[in-house]
This record gives sequence, C-alpha cells and structure tokens, in this order.
Amino acid sequence: MQTSISNKWINPKQIDKKINKKAVQASFSKAAAHYDQFADLQREVGHHLMGLIGEPIIQVNTILDLGCGTGYFSALFNEVNKAAQLTCFDLSAEMLKQTTERGVTRCQCVQGDIDVLPFMTRQFDLIFSNLVLQWSEHLTNCLIQTKKALNEKGQLCFSTLLNGSLIELQQAWKTVDTNKHINHFLTQEKIQEALQLSGFNRVRITTETHVKKYTNVIEVMKALKGIGANHVHDGQKNRTMGRQLIKQLEKGYQPFIDNDGLYNLSYQVCYVIADAKS
Ligand SMILES: C[S@@+](CC[C@H](N)C(=O)[O-])C[C@H]1O[C@@H](n2cnc3c(N)ncnc32)[C@H](O)[C@@H]1O
Repeated sequence: MQTSISNKWINPKQIDKKINKKAVQASFSKAAAHYDQFADLQREVGHHLMGLIGEPIIQVNTILDLGCGTGYFSALFNEVNKAAQLTCFDLSAEMLKQTTERGVTRCQCVQGDIDVLPFMTRQFDLIFSNLVLQWSEHLTNCLIQTKKALNEKGQLCFSTLLNGSLIELQQAWKTVDTNKHINHFLTQEKIQEALQLSGFNRVRITTETHVKKYTNVIEVMKALKGIGANHVHDGQKNRTMGRQLIKQLEKGYQPFIDNDGLYNLSYQVCYVIADAKS
C-alpha cells in the first residue's frame, strides 16, 4: 500500500533541533581549503556510489550534487556526462568557492541547508549526495524534499554513515569523560524507514565497513578536523587537547591498536539508490 507522503512531513517548528548549523558551516568552511588532502574516505565512498548509478549517469539532463563539498564529484559528472546541467549545493560558501575554483562547468552553485531545500518540484533527474545526509536534522523531512525535487523518473543516490561509525574514538573518550564527543548516527533500519515514509520506491541498500588507520590519536583527530567533520551536535565545547588529555585518550585507544601499532577508526557506510517513481 502506498504511504501518504503529506502525513509524514513534520512541521520543522516541532523538531527538537540539536544541530547548530552555524557551527557546522564554520567547521566545514574552515576545512575547505585543505579538505581534499584529508578526504580519502570520501573519495573511496563517492567513487563506489557513482559506480552504483549505472546507465542513468550518462542519460540524465539535470543533476543535483547535494552537499557537494569542494566539487570533486561534480567535476567527475562533468566528465562522464558532457551535457547535463549541474547544481552544486552546500551549506558552506567556502566549499562552494573551492567547487568554482576547481573549474566545474555547466554548473550553478547554490548555498543552503539540506533540511530546507530551495528547489522547484521535479527539477532534477538525478540527486547525488556523498557522505552528507548524516548532517540532516530530520532525515525523513529531508528525503521528502529530495523526492519532490526529482522528476517522476528521477533517482536518488546517496551514501551516509551508520551507527557504529567512529566507535573506537567513542570508546576511547568514554574512558576519559562522560561528555559527548561523537555525533549520533542512524541505524540502517531508521534510514530504511525514512526512505519508505518519504515515498521512495525500489530502494536498494548496501553497506560496507571502512577501517582507516593512523599512527596516533592526534592523527585520528586531525583526520576528522581536516575534512571539517569535527563539530559535535549538542556536545560540550571541544576540550583543549593538552598533553595530559592526549595521554589519557591514547590509553583509552589501546584496545583499538592493531598488531602493526596502528590506531583503527571504523566507518559504517550505507549506500542507497532509490527511484522517485511511484
Ligand atoms: C564530508 S563532506 C562531503 C563533501 C562531498 N560530497 C564529497 O564527497 O567530497 C560533507 C559536506 O556536507 C556539507 N554539509 C554539512 N551539513 C550540511 C547541510 N545542513 N546542508 C548542506 N550541506 C551540508 C558540508 O559543508 C560538506 O561540504
């Protein structure tokens, strides 16, 4: 039975807002100029995601890169589809500046928030979003808006992080204090539910674990800060990483150091391809 979409829309005023968008924007803007040096996970995941799109990648006329960052994947869309018009959308003006400087063509840059999409009904054939939707305040509302912005035959294609991501860092911090240091990530079931509530069809979901390895705990923290993903929603102000604190955190990380002496950090990645067509 088809679910009534309008019933599922939650009035944004009623959402208990936990994300300080200004702070998220500031973190990503601060990272924009050096983001590409640290974005190896984002590259791997985004390439895999692009590979899942199939034929539509060369056939579509309009593409939205939702949370485009520095425009790396927008530029790839330019290469694989020589005609499509791109819209590059991001919360951070500094990220969009990098996209422009990369020389992405046939492209319009729009600054905005994934939770308040400014697009017209049925504006896009393809919406691509790589490792962005974990920053949404309310995934169902966000997906309802993406579905509305898609043509009837349009496709949504996104990757996001699942619960269990950054678990090692979370466990290590737990040995130090009771503050919140890691953002909350949704379960696969919650993402599936949001897709169903927002009226998407033929939903294909796959998951994958990526384990990144670092030489010490400072490198772990630098990796998150380097891409701008260091703002913690609803968290206490970041503590200054003095020597004593680093030592404590190193100690808490011990169970997650492998035989080569490397500090493991896991990412649980979820890939989704879904059709707008009812
Ligand atoms: C991890 S980066 C991914 C960037 C790009 N998709 C890539 O694969 O390299 C996350 C991006 O999402 C953007 N972002 C975070 N919260 C957002 C929001 N509420 N609305 C729009 N963009 C947002 C950030 O500015 C950042 O550019």
